[in-house]
Amino acid sequence: QDPRIARISSAIRVIPNFPKPGILFQDITTLLLDTRAFRDTIDLFVERYRGRDISVVAGIEARGFIFGPPIALAIGAKFVPLRKPKKLPGEVISEEYSLEYGTDKIEMHVGAVQEGERALVIDDLIATGGTLCAAIKLLERVGADVLECACLIELAELKGRERLGEKPLFVLVNSA
Ligand code: PRP
Ligand code: MG
Repeated sequence: QDPRIARISSAIRVIPNFPKPGILFQDITTLLLDTRAFRDTIDLFVERYRGRDISVVAGIEARGFIFGPPIALAIGAKFVPLRKPKKLPGEVISEEYSLEYGTDKIEMHVGAVQEGERALVIDDLIATGGTLCAAIKLLERVGADVLECACLIELAELKGRERLGEKPLFVLVNSA
């Protein structure tokens, strides 16, 4: 394994019982304070995706907005924010996804991504995979080709990877 992974893993703070009892929260804000770990994180993604002719990096609000833009700049792709409902001012398409209780939505500006573009979806973490699935659907609805999803952290026991089906998922750190 790449030696940078251990540093990244230890820079992520785990907080028990947040935001509610029984949840082990994976806090990436401590990674952002460690300039080397933050840089290594971006570098690992850039090394993987550079030269693969990716024209769009789509980041999921909110924490996908932290990691997506530096990766997009480094590989020469545009950055497209996938936002929570009613935040984008232009015409949007939306996808609903299920939460533990109820549903939520993410939205994308119409015209941000063209048919045939090669896209990468970025978020900090995959839990159930519902959010990433909705992101893939948004991009595919406009005819983009989603090459892969990338996250820092996978909560493997929630089996979000299975929900993505055939779509490749790349993660840096596995967390129980
Ligand atoms: C968290 C996390 C992922 C999503 C993963 O975001 O940042 O985006 O949940 O969950 P899933 O795989 O079960 O869909 P959250 O919606 O809590 O909000 P934030 O990123 O805006 O803080
Ligand atoms: Mg999120």
